[in-house]
Amino acid sequence: MAKLKEKLREKIEAWRPRTARLVKEFGEVKVGEVNIGQVIGGARDVKCLVTDISYLDPNEGIRFRGMTIPEVMEKLPKVPGSEMPFVEGHLWFLLTGDIPTMEDTMDVVAEFKQRQQIPQYAIDVLRAMPRDTHPMTMLSAAVVAMQRESIYVQRYNAGMHRNDYWDPTFEDSMNLLAKMPCIAAYIFRMKYRGDTIIPPNPDLDMGGNFAHMMGVPKPYDDVSRLYFILHSDHESGNVSAHAGHLIASALSDVYYAVSGLINGLAGPLHGLANQEVLRWIQGVMEKMGGKIPSDEEMRKFVWDTLKSGQVIPGYGHAVLRKTDPRYMAQREFCLKHMPEDPIFKYTDMLFRIVPPVLLEQGKAKDPWPNVDAQSGVIQWHYGVTEYDFYTVLFAVGRALGVTANIIWDRGLGYPIERPKSVTTDMLEAVAGIKK
Ligand SMILES: CC(C)(COP(=O)(O)OP(=O)(O)OC[C@H]1O[C@@H](n2cnc3c(N)ncnc32)[C@H](O)[C@@H]1OP(=O)(O)O)[C@@H](O)C(=O)NCCC(=O)NCCS
Repeated sequence: MAKLKEKLREKIEAWRPRTARLVKEFGEVKVGEVNIGQVIGGARDVKCLVTDISYLDPNEGIRFRGMTIPEVMEKLPKVPGSEMPFVEGHLWFLLTGDIPTMEDTMDVVAEFKQRQQIPQYAIDVLRAMPRDTHPMTMLSAAVVAMQRESIYVQRYNAGMHRNDYWDPTFEDSMNLLAKMPCIAAYIFRMKYRGDTIIPPNPDLDMGGNFAHMMGVPKPYDDVSRLYFILHSDHESGNVSAHAGHLIASALSDVYYAVSGLINGLAGPLHGLANQEVLRWIQGVMEKMGGKIPSDEEMRKFVWDTLKSGQVIPGYGHAVLRKTDPRYMAQREFCLKHMPEDPIFKYTDMLFRIVPPVLLEQGKAKDPWPNVDAQSGVIQWHYGVTEYDFYTVLFAVGRALGVTANIIWDRGLGYPIERPKSVTTDMLEAVAGIKK
C-alpha cells in the first residue's frame, strides 16, 4: 500500500501547481454561459465541476483516465483463470492514471484483505433494522454508523496541514472500500437468504470474495468485477458523484460522503432505474404470456407505457446521446454467457424497438439504452432475483470513483461548494417580463 500512496503523493504534488496557476492567473476567464433553462433545469450542462478521473463525451460515452471501457478491460491485470480484471487494479488506475502492474495490483488486494472486517456495532445496526427495510437504507446506515472510525477526523482534530488532508482521506477510503462488498453481501444473506451469513475468504480478490460471500457460483465473480468497474465513475455531475463531492467539500469525511451518495443513488431516476427495468420487462413478459412477442406487439406495449405517462426505464440519459458503452459491455457478456436467457431475449428485442419509438415520440433527447437497461437481467440470470438489491451493487462500484475523486479534491485543495440561487422574480426580470 505504501506504493500506491507514494505514487499518489507524487501525482498530487506534481498536479497542484497546474490548479493553483489556473485559479491565480486565469480565474476570471469565462468557461461558459448559463441560461434560464439551465438554472431551472437542474444545472444541465453547466460546466462548474472539475475531475480528471473520468470524462463523459455525449457521443462516445465514458472514458476512465482517457481510456474507453474496452481499452481499460484489456489493459488492466486480469484475475488468473478469469475473463475480468481485478477491481483493485482499476482503483489504482482511477487514483493514479497509470495502469498498474500485477505486483501493484496485488498490493491493493492484500491491503483490502487486511481492512475488510466489518465492526460488530455496524452489524448490530443492520440487525436492529426491520428486515423489510430497503437494502440501500441499510447500506447507507451501516456506512454512516462507521463514521466514528474516521482517521481523517482524528487527524483534523489533532491539527493537520491542509496539504495533508488527502492522506487520511485515502486511509478512510481504503478502509471503507474494503468493507463495502462485505456489508453488501451481509445485507443480502441476512435479508434474502434466511440470515445464512457467509464469512469472507481471505484467498480471494474483491470481486471473487463478493461472489463467495453472496453464495453465487462462477461466473458471478466475473459479473461482480465487471459491475464494480463499469459503475465506478461517470464524471462528477451525476447525482451520486455530485452528492459525494458536495458533502466532502464541507470537509465531512468519506463515511458521511459515501452514505450521502448512496442516498442519491437510491432515487428511481438514477441508480434505482436498474430495478425498475427488470420490473417493467417482467410486466411485459407476463402480459405476453411468457412468449416472445411480435415486433408490432412490443411496439404497442412501449407506446402504451409512454401514453400512461411513464418513462421507459433504462432508456435516455441526461448527458449521453448514443448507446451507453456500459450497456454494450454488459450486452457482450450476455451474448457470450447467456444468449438463450428469456429475459435477455426481451432486452435484446427492446434494444431494437424502443429507440425508434422514443425518436418518433420526439421528447427524449437520448433514445438509446443506458447502463441500467441490461444490468438487472444478468443478476436475475445468476439467481440474484431480488430487484431491490441491484442498486446496492451499483453503490459498491460507485464508491470507488467517488472516494478517488474526494481524495483528489483534498489533494488539490478544492474549496467548499457554494453555487448561487436566484428568485423567480429575478429570473422574470432577466427574461424581460417583469421589472
Ligand atoms: C435518465 C433521465 C432521467 C434523463 O432525464 P432528462 O435529462 O430530463 O432527459 P431529457 O432531457 O431527454 O428529457 C426530455 C423529455 O423526454 C422524456 N424522456 C426522457 N427519457 C425518457 C424515457 N426513457 N422514456 C420516456 N420519456 C423519456 C423526459 O421525461 C422529458 O419529458 P418532459 O419534457 O415531458 O418532462 C430520463 O431519460 C429517464 O427518466 N430515463 C428513464 C429512467 C432511467 O433509465 N434512469 C437511469 C439513468 S442512468
